[in-house]
Amino acid sequence: MHSFRYVGSRLQCEDVALADLAAKHGTPLYVYSQATLTDHFKKLSGALAGHGLDQLVCFAMKSNSNLAVIRTLADLGSGFDTVSGGEIARVIAAGGDARKCVFAGVGKTEEDIAFALKQGIYSFNVESEAEIVRISRVATKLKKIAPIAVRVNPNVDAGTHSKITTGTYENKFGIQFEQIEAVYARAAKLPNLRLRGLQMHIGSQLTDVTPFRLAVTKVAPLVARLNKKYGFDFFSIGGGIGIVYREALASADPQWWKTGPGRKVLTPQIYADTLAPLLKPLGLKILLEPGRFLTGNAGVLLTRVEYLKKTGKKHFVIVDAAMNDLIRPAFYDSYHEIVPLKKKGGVQVSSDVVGPICESGDYFAKDRPLPKVGEGDYLALLSAGAYGSVMGSNYNSRSLAPEILVNGKKAAVIRRRQDLNDIWADEVTAPWQK
Ligand code: LLP
Repeated sequence: MHSFRYVGSRLQCEDVALADLAAKHGTPLYVYSQATLTDHFKKLSGALAGHGLDQLVCFAMKSNSNLAVIRTLADLGSGFDTVSGGEIARVIAAGGDARKCVFAGVGKTEEDIAFALKQGIYSFNVESEAEIVRISRVATKLKKIAPIAVRVNPNVDAGTHSKITTGTYENKFGIQFEQIEAVYARAAKLPNLRLRGLQMHIGSQLTDVTPFRLAVTKVAPLVARLNKKYGFDFFSIGGGIGIVYREALASADPQWWKTGPGRKVLTPQIYADTLAPLLKPLGLKILLEPGRFLTGNAGVLLTRVEYLKKTGKKHFVIVDAAMNDLIRPAFYDSYHEIVPLKKKGGVQVSSDVVGPICESGDYFAKDRPLPKVGEGDYLALLSAGAYGSVMGSNYNSRSLAPEILVNGKKAAVIRRRQDLNDIWADEVTAPWQK
C-alpha cells in the first residue's frame, strides 16, 4: 500500500498536492513518500519477526540511494545491501551504520575491498573463488579479518525479465550450487577470513512466491551442513519481492488488497508465511535484501505535457521527462501507470507518451488509453521510486531531475535540480585546443 491518491480531483502524496510541488520545483521531478517507505519496511520486517525469526532487512540501495531515503530506512534499523565502495560511503554520509552493510557484486576492486574492511562491514557477499583469494590477501595486508558469505547460484529460474533474472547458470552471478562445499573447504584454509554465512538472490520483480520457495528449499539443507562445519551467523535470501506496476493507483486502497486483484500479489505476509517455516529450523539470522519492494511504489516521477502531435496512426503526448530520467520502459519494456495530477473524466485517447530525446526508445507508454490532456498539464509516472532516479543520466546534456521527500504535510528538496554547468564541470578541452 502506498500514499499516492486523489483527494478530490488532486493527486496527493500523503497530505501534499503534487501539482503544487510541480509548480514550485518544476518538472521532471521525483517525489517520494516517507510514510510509504516506513510502512513497507515495517510490514516486511514485521512479517518475518512475527514468525520469531531473527532477521535483518538490508535495503538494496541500488534501487534508490538518495541520502534522505537511506536515512529514513537507517532510522528504522535497516541494514544495507551495497555494491560499491561508493554505496558504502553513501550509507556513512547519510548517517547509517557501515557495520550493517553487506557488500555484493561480481567485480569488487582491491580499493573497494580495503575500504569496506576499514569500515568494518557486516559481510562480503562473494561471487567467485578468485574474489575470495583477493579478499583474503587484502585482509591479511591490512591485518583485518574479513567476514564473508559465498553467493550460491541455486539454478532456479525466477521467471522474470531476462535482464533481471540472476539465479540460473546462464547468469554471471554467484557460484554453482554443486561447487559450494568445496569452495568453502578451500576458503577455510585461507588466512584472515571468517566464513560467516551463505547468500543467494534469484532475481528481481518476482510476483509469485514459488521460485523463492523452491530456492530456499534447495539451499537450506546446504546452509545447515555448512553451518555445522563453520559456525555461521546468517543466511541471506536476497531481494526480489515484486511490486504492483499495472494497477499502482488502485493499490493505494486497502480494499484492493483484500478483495480486488491485490489478492494475487506477493505480499510480505505470503512471503514470510511461506519461507519462515523453511528458515526457522536453521537457527540463524536471516538477511533480506529488498530494494524495489521498499522504494518502488514509494516514488513517482512528475512530468509536464509540452506538445501534442498526431500522425496518421498515432496520438503522441510529448512530455518533458525522458529516458535519461526513467530508463525502465526503454530498457526493460516496463510498464509504469500514468495518471494526470488533476483528475480528468471523459473519453480516453489511445496515446504514446514520449520524451524529447532523439531516440525512438525514448517513450513511457505506447497505445495507452489516457484521458485527454493538453499542453501544460502535469502527469505522474507511478511506481518510479525504484531504479528510477538512480539510473538517471545526463544523456542529451539534460540535467538530473531533483528529488523531493514528503512527510505528512511537509515536503523537502532532497536533491536539487542539477545546474547545467555541473554537467560538464569535470570536463576540459585538451591543452592543444587553446
Ligand atoms: N540483492 C542482489 C544481489 C541484487 O542483485 C538485487 C538487485 C537486489 C538484492 C535487489 O533486488 P530487488 O529487491 O530490488 O528486486 N534495474 C532493474 C532491477 C535490477 C536489479 C538488480 N539487482 C529494474 O529496474 O527493474
